[in-house]
Amino acid sequence: MDNPVKIAIAGGGYGAKVALPAYRELEEFQPVAIWSRRPERARELADQAGLELGTADFEELLSLPGLEAVHVATPVVTHLPMAVAAARQGLHVLCEKPLADNMADARRITAAVREAGVIGAVGFELRLKETRQRLVERAHEVFGRPRMVAVSLVQSDHADPYSRPHTWVHDATMGGGRLQGYGVHDLDLLLQIVPPVEAVAAATDVGVRVRTSGNDELLPVTAEDAYGILLRFRGGGLGIVSLISTARHARPDVIELHGDEGTVRLDADQRVWWGRASEELRCDGPLDDSSSGGFKRLARNFWAAIRNGAAPDPSLEEALRVQSVFDAVRTAATERRWVRPEPVSPLD
Ligand SMILES: NC(=O)c1ccc[n+]([C@@H]2O[C@H](COP(=O)([O-])OP(=O)(O)OC[C@H]3O[C@@H](n4cnc5c(N)ncnc54)[C@H](OP(=O)(O)O)[C@@H]3O)[C@@H](O)[C@H]2O)c1
Repeated sequence: MDNPVKIAIAGGGYGAKVALPAYRELEEFQPVAIWSRRPERARELADQAGLELGTADFEELLSLPGLEAVHVATPVVTHLPMAVAAARQGLHVLCEKPLADNMADARRITAAVREAGVIGAVGFELRLKETRQRLVERAHEVFGRPRMVAVSLVQSDHADPYSRPHTWVHDATMGGGRLQGYGVHDLDLLLQIVPPVEAVAAATDVGVRVRTSGNDELLPVTAEDAYGILLRFRGGGLGIVSLISTARHARPDVIELHGDEGTVRLDADQRVWWGRASEELRCDGPLDDSSSGGFKRLARNFWAAIRNGAAPDPSLEEALRVQSVFDAVRTAATERRWVRPEPVSPLD
């Protein structure tokens, strides 16, 4: 491609492991720089990938001549300063999910992007996995209005204090927790299918309360490793979204959509079952459930918004809708009551 988008990645975790290799494979992008908290790690990552710059100085990253876009893949509470600084520098911003730690910060990011006149998008890549894309397509064909929808995630990666080292993900003050990890992806998926959420109830839990520092120390876990969310949709119908990351036996995601006109189901073998009332269910798949496939579609959508004027997909408006439900879930869990999500208008 003659004119790939020159992009920098802020983040040496997911950003280096998933985003950077994908940008290197895609002809639509030319990754040119990477930021890590540690200068030596940043330089190592840049050298390995043949990038112009590896730095722990975010201002230096933003000032790289010719840079056009930044992918913000850092702890959730840091999305606000980094995304706003990138937008103010006139750079397009792909921000990881959730957009921010709370609705007020998420609105600050969307405002900065609009004021700067740059493209903003959010990293809801799981909706772009082949499995979940097909689920949404079939739901739009046969589902109708919701009677009951259910998303059930069963993971075992946090089952022991030594199964993963302690990071910001285990620290509530840094925006950690499995709701930010997976819950927002599942809310994003459902919001494409169901009417707006009228109210939510929720409970969270920390099943494994300490986690290794990587040395001999055990650090406290303050962010949830399990949750259950109950959703009530405007006009009727219920939803249940749950995750356990401390299971002794994991299984692939299962999603069930029961509508007044039909049924759609993603089973644990990555098959999508679908049918209208009175029909036998038909089956698509097994389908590709890889995150890398989803990420490449997300990146191509970002490129199309920058170069071709396409609508960003997923958009910042969608990110705000998820954020409003996410905020309501956390309030509901803390205050043990039903909570109405804050309305989001198209002009936000
Ligand atoms: N779309 C998806 O499916 C997906 C999947 C995973 C993560 N994510 C998102 O990606 C973002 C980063 O997550 P991650 O798992 O990549 O995190 P991570 O590996 O722990 O850290 C990412 C970057 O942030 C830096 N960092 C870590 N703790 C920090 C702190 N306390 N203050 C400032 N910087 C800190 C790290 O520094 P070092 O380089 O020095 O380690 C690293 O460069 C989050 O928004 C997360 O939600 C998205």
